[in-house]
Amino acid sequence: MVVSNARGAVRSGEARGRLAEEPNWIHFGGIVPSEAHKSGVAVLGLGYVGCVTAACLASTGHSVWGVDRDEHKVRSVNRGEAPFYEPGLKELIRESASAGRLTATMSTREAIENADVALVCVGTPSERNGNLGLDQLRRAVEELAATCANRTRPLVVAIRSTVFPGTCEQVVMPAFAGTGAVRVAANPEFLREGVAVRDFMEAALVVVGGEDGDAVERVAGLYRAVPTRPCLVSLRTAEMIKYACNAFHAVKISFANEVGALAEMMGVPPEEVLETLCSDDKLNTSAAYLKPGFAFGGSCLPKDLRALRYRAARLDLKLPMLESVLASNEEHLRRATQAALDVGPVRLGVVGLAFKENTDDLRESPVVTMLETLIGKGREVRVWDPHIQLEKIYGSNREYILNAIPHIGRLLTASFEEIESWAHTLVITQRPSAEVAARIRANGKPVLDVARGLS
Ligand SMILES: NC(=O)c1ccc[n+]([C@@H]2O[C@H](COP(=O)([O-])OP(=O)(O)OC[C@H]3O[C@@H](n4cnc5c(N)ncnc54)[C@H](O)[C@@H]3O)[C@@H](O)[C@H]2O)c1
Repeated sequence: MVVSNARGAVRSGEARGRLAEEPNWIHFGGIVPSEAHKSGVAVLGLGYVGCVTAACLASTGHSVWGVDRDEHKVRSVNRGEAPFYEPGLKELIRESASAGRLTATMSTREAIENADVALVCVGTPSERNGNLGLDQLRRAVEELAATCANRTRPLVVAIRSTVFPGTCEQVVMPAFAGTGAVRVAANPEFLREGVAVRDFMEAALVVVGGEDGDAVERVAGLYRAVPTRPCLVSLRTAEMIKYACNAFHAVKISFANEVGALAEMMGVPPEEVLETLCSDDKLNTSAAYLKPGFAFGGSCLPKDLRALRYRAARLDLKLPMLESVLASNEEHLRRATQAALDVGPVRLGVVGLAFKENTDDLRESPVVTMLETLIGKGREVRVWDPHIQLEKIYGSNREYILNAIPHIGRLLTASFEEIESWAHTLVITQRPSAEVAARIRANGKPVLDVARGLS
């Protein structure tokens, strides 16, 4: 999450703040950037993304050249027409083309002559095996690089097409290796067809990634007319975020459809269920639970997912997504356990035994399952949890742990100091308190943070 520029490393949050505080930051609403903030922009590929990007940037005052291999699209734009239907697009193209702020060409060389930024918006369609097809991107970048061979005017090449993390470094940057004037950034697009113009002008998310701070700011500056603070991130995060967003949207849709189908089968109105779910913006439609960490457990989530799976099966209802959640969790736990095994035959001090921090509930704690495997494989393990003393837990909680690991009492240490001095490596399975986190960082021992609790 760090981008560096000539003035040194800038944390993404700080960089965002700085841009947003600039006096020339202008919100959309008929106001266009001042002369100093206008850029010459070349947009490579005039498909859904490129055409909307070109028309919106032109309508906010930038001087835009669009390039496409398709003569029909180029002619359409130059006639002031949209090459396809998208609400609001033809009006923007008509206005910008007649004002001379938007021109289309089939020549990359002509388009980038006066450009400060080249936005690559070519297609990256699926290959037969599902892999991402980079043929259009490779060709567009090669054409761009050929025209930049003797370039002295600075140019930022920003990849707007959806590409895997590493593509800019492995495919794009090498093409410009001999060209000192070119910097590379990633600037993924999040528009939805049908509302693409509005999604651009009132963007939910603007992301610019790169390791060259000036290049990142140059690209972010294109969006001064958009009332959204750009997220300035690393190059690979910018590439990855588009996949994360699209996967999240697809998961949300499938979740709503599966819960809706089950509700309907049980005579419950699906809309009412989902609307009520969404009315909780603390735990449901929020950042809660959206942090990578350790596997889930406890006395509710596994039990209720099992019950849903069982009931759906009895109703002859297939819910592949919900049915696979426990398997996904088990696989996540298996990865963490394997990472602990991979540390080798050393003394492992496990920090956290309950299924999450600030509780002494051990029922279905994934840490218990992890310990069972480690002990079974002959590893020397001890464990500390600030809220667990065996003599103080009782009922189903006590029964659960004694049934799983009868000699747990011999493995538990009474204090952090004890486990810290005993262990060779500390395995962090839940978010430690600030005090314990500081001690873990300070003591210099090897740490395996499977909960990402120190991040
Ligand atoms: N369509 C969407 O809703 C959407 C939204 C966000 C991101 N994306 C991503 O944006 C990218 C573009 O998507 P799209 O739907 O606009 O694709 P598209 O197929 O509609 O447009 C791509 C355009 O690039 C042109 N082109 C290909 N090679 C070229 C070259 N060498 N020089 C100039 N032009 C060239 C093609 O002729 C075509 O007009 C893809 O990576 C896609 O995954 C799409």
